[in-house]
Amino acid sequence: MWSVGLRAVLVEGDAMDAPDSHSTLASNVEVYDEISDHYIQFIRQDIQSKSRILAAFDTVDAAPGNDERGQRLHVDFGCGPGNVLIWSEDWAKERNCRRIGLDVSIRNLQNVLKRTDALVVLGDATCMPFRDGIASVVSEASVLHHIMDWKAVISETCRISNENAVILLDNEPSKEGLDWGWLARTVFESRFVYYWFLSYFSPKHRNFRNPRLAKLNYYEAECHNQPGLGFDPDEIECTFEASGFRARILRRCGAVLETGSGTNSYKTNILLALSGKNWKDPRYGILTMVARPALADRKDSTRKLIG
Ligand SMILES: C[S@@+](CC[C@H](N)C(=O)[O-])C[C@H]1O[C@@H](n2cnc3c(N)ncnc32)[C@H](O)[C@@H]1O
Repeated sequence: MWSVGLRAVLVEGDAMDAPDSHSTLASNVEVYDEISDHYIQFIRQDIQSKSRILAAFDTVDAAPGNDERGQRLHVDFGCGPGNVLIWSEDWAKERNCRRIGLDVSIRNLQNVLKRTDALVVLGDATCMPFRDGIASVVSEASVLHHIMDWKAVISETCRISNENAVILLDNEPSKEGLDWGWLARTVFESRFVYYWFLSYFSPKHRNFRNPRLAKLNYYEAECHNQPGLGFDPDEIECTFEASGFRARILRRCGAVLETGSGTNSYKTNILLALSGKNWKDPRYGILTMVARPALADRKDSTRKLIG
């Protein structure tokens, strides 16, 4: 049930010297086992994400559930300590929807069990331990950029989705948003020293007290969230298409699913301005992607057309 990488990390324990994808995985396990409790208090606690995520889930409402008991299943991969599962609790209850959180960090999953009614599975999103077509909703928030083989993750989300499902990928960096000049890169790089100093006064920055862990988190765990990297939306669209899904790509969403409806953080705006970019342009904002099976999408459009 486990991927070769996860087995190498959790059973053999030698992944740091193994292929890139294994060392990225090992870094995520190490970082999140350490920072999961801190994450609950200080990271990704914004209300806008909740509203946006529920708007994406609502796309699935017209479709029936698909298991023997007519129940729906929501799989949130890279669930961390449970933010998305908590935000969608009422949504799921109202729709008789079971939930599963999948993650590679045991500490995260322990926190999910404490904080939600979801089941948890220790597993790798590149090789999800679920049967084909089992899920009505598959989601992730801020996870894809942590996984080296992100294309395998997309094809897995499509494989486990049923014919009416909705897949949501949220809060991912675009290649345009990370196209920084040397000045922005230098300022960004210098933050480790500044935050280390702050960590003695600000509980929010406590994680920077251990510079090795802070750098492991940024440089290794967040492998695609580096200056000059980020995702190409066209490539993501094609990857979904290869599995028979159609993806809507949205940029810089706020509380609603609409390009440009949100704002960047002031830090992002400073880095973009230092790179000579117009930070108000949604092209430089984070990506949200909502995908559905191409056939279901076509049926919905026809239904709307004929009223
Ligand atoms: C930035 S956190 C996001 C947590 C949560 N989704 C949220 O919105 O708060 C990234 C999560 O991805 C998980 N992760 C990293 N690589 C993974 C993989 N290959 N399979 C499943 N989860 C993974 C990490 O353990 C971590 O919990």
